[in-house]
Amino acid sequence: MNWNALRRLRQRFLQFEQRDAGPGGKSAGIQTQPQAEPDRADYWRSHSELASYDFTFGERVGWKWDKVISELQTRGWTPPAGTALDWGCGTGIAGRRVAEAWPQQIQSLLLSDRSHPAQNFAVARARTTLPGLAVQTAAADTATDLLVLSHVLNELAPEALERLLGLAAKAQVVLWVEPGTHETSRKLIAVRERLLARFRVIAPCPHAAACGMLMPGNERHWCHHFARVPGYVHTDPGWGRFAQTLEIDLSSVPFSFLVLDRRPAVVKPDSREARVIGAPRYYKGYAKVLSCQGDGVNELVLQKRDAPELLKAMKKDPGSLYRWEREGEKIRGGEQIF
Ligand SMILES: C[S@@+](CC[C@H](N)C(=O)[O-])C[C@H]1O[C@@H](n2cnc3c(N)ncnc32)[C@H](O)[C@@H]1O
Repeated sequence: MNWNALRRLRQRFLQFEQRDAGPGGKSAGIQTQPQAEPDRADYWRSHSELASYDFTFGERVGWKWDKVISELQTRGWTPPAGTALDWGCGTGIAGRRVAEAWPQQIQSLLLSDRSHPAQNFAVARARTTLPGLAVQTAAADTATDLLVLSHVLNELAPEALERLLGLAAKAQVVLWVEPGTHETSRKLIAVRERLLARFRVIAPCPHAAACGMLMPGNERHWCHHFARVPGYVHTDPGWGRFAQTLEIDLSSVPFSFLVLDRRPAVVKPDSREARVIGAPRYYKGYAKVLSCQGDGVNELVLQKRDAPELLKAMKKDPGSLYRWEREGEKIRGGEQIF
């Protein structure tokens, strides 16, 4: 493990986030990104750095993808058959997770990154872990049916983001996972609003309207969710050292995501579906849930006396997608979809 490289990478990722947040903390969206080209130059230095990232940060990114993929599979969604492009692939964790999840659909995997060492590492790693799959490097402007994007938003200067959105607009499906910070989630929301006319939003939004987070009064909120951290991570000495050395809290892995699909809907959307933002907050006898649905983003209250079983189940396994029975801001009952 190249600990120095991991420290340097961590420092760099934090810098990207802080710089984009601006001096006042939170910027309004993608248009306000300051340009800082020198720091945005290729930063992958060595094979050991890439291998150490893949084994640690990359794996942590993988847990976020696992959650997204698990929801899509639970809901019966599948990507179109064909070629997937993991753009800004780094070590290629996102492309690998997607190809592993849908072996029938993903017939070949393209990996693209401005860093040639990263691109080559990703290809070698994907060929080892997915021996039956055709894996190649690709130019950054290669259009494919399935575009996979993971943790790239904070590193793109405005013109690079424009090019990427142009590429996204040509895809049938876009699968996009980013960190769960206020800043990055807000940027992904701005991307959603840009691409909304061309795609159906499969997730996280249970509706096709403008994002409720953009409504006045919701500025302090952001659309984030939590990955399921595998149990062994909490007892594994290697992960313990990683958490301690890099000061990373492994008990909570927040992320934001966006799944867009241009194909016609197979099932009619259910207007009662609601997405839990972040995690419910529990108090004596009730829980508060920031909930996103067709009528916007609202704080709802779930009283134990109204739906004891639902509250109990939520405490045990806080779901992400629900079908509520509501009376205004009160949840009277409901069921967990995912
Ligand atoms: C934080 S890493 C994420 C890597 C990988 N997608 C993941 O989720 O683990 C961001 C990646 O984007 C690449 N990148 C940044 N700007 C880029 C650009 N303009 N064009 C292509 N790749 C870019 C970097 O080289 C780096 O590999």
